[in-house]
Amino acid sequence: MHMRKKKWARPELAACSWYIEEDESFRNRWRACFAHPERPLHLEMGCGKGVSTAAMARDNARINYVAADLNADVLGCARRNAAAACGENPENLRLLQADICFISHFFGPEDRPERIYISFCNPWTEHPKHAKRRLTHPRQLMQYRSFLAEGGEIWFKTDDETLFQDSLAYFDRCGFFPVYLTHDLHAAGFRPNYVSEHEMKFTGEGIPIKAAVFRMGPPPAAWDPTRYRLTPGVRAEILARLDRETDLREVGQDGPENA
Ligand SMILES: C[S@@+](CC[C@H](N)C(=O)[O-])C[C@H]1O[C@@H](n2cnc3c(N)ncnc32)[C@H](O)[C@@H]1O
Repeated sequence: MHMRKKKWARPELAACSWYIEEDESFRNRWRACFAHPERPLHLEMGCGKGVSTAAMARDNARINYVAADLNADVLGCARRNAAAACGENPENLRLLQADICFISHFFGPEDRPERIYISFCNPWTEHPKHAKRRLTHPRQLMQYRSFLAEGGEIWFKTDDETLFQDSLAYFDRCGFFPVYLTHDLHAAGFRPNYVSEHEMKFTGEGIPIKAAVFRMGPPPAAWDPTRYRLTPGVRAEILARLDRETDLREVGQDGPENA
């Protein structure tokens, strides 16, 4: 979704003590930049205007959040949304401007976030060559693996069926297994669910939201994820195996936090 430039965004971000612009020196030191470093750390990839980020940070004061996006204009909106929900200086939230394609330059194995959120990332479905730009592509997932806590989770939501199915294969290839999965998040009544800007838009258009929670299992044997190309045959094979091993239509009726 194209957004007009917001003249106020950069000056407001520059004056914001909890905004971090492409600073790699935080790598392996993220926990220490919060007042309570011992608390869980959750990372949001491509937070956009931070509609769900602001609500999560407000409702979960005992969780530390880092919300990352490439775009300063949307981060300016995220700053305003978070300030409105949590006050001008939220203790448990940092906004990071960074290109997630290089996220392992910004997060390291000492950071160990327990959870990563990827909500409505760009589907890149027009050309197979573009698939590697997806935030769920193996070259991304293998980076997330390098700093996610042991047994950590990735919470993924999308409106796009092709991206969803391809991503199930990507996660499987990278040693993540689904602990929750639905093709209609709102009908399933999964809680907690913080509705993002794009989720609101697609839901308004009557598009069911596909969602899954993946837990990190043992690492796959050494391979080169940058060269990964998912073929229809491999995808069908992986989906069929997942269908046998887990009930892919609905893994559980409740989210893990309601189990
Ligand atoms: C479709 S929007 C979704 C925003 C929000 N998560 C939501 O659900 O409303 C995708 C967001 O991902 C960001 N994004 C895309 N590629 C990125 C990258 N490589 N690094 C950082 N942010 C990225 C975009 O700037 C945009 O804000």
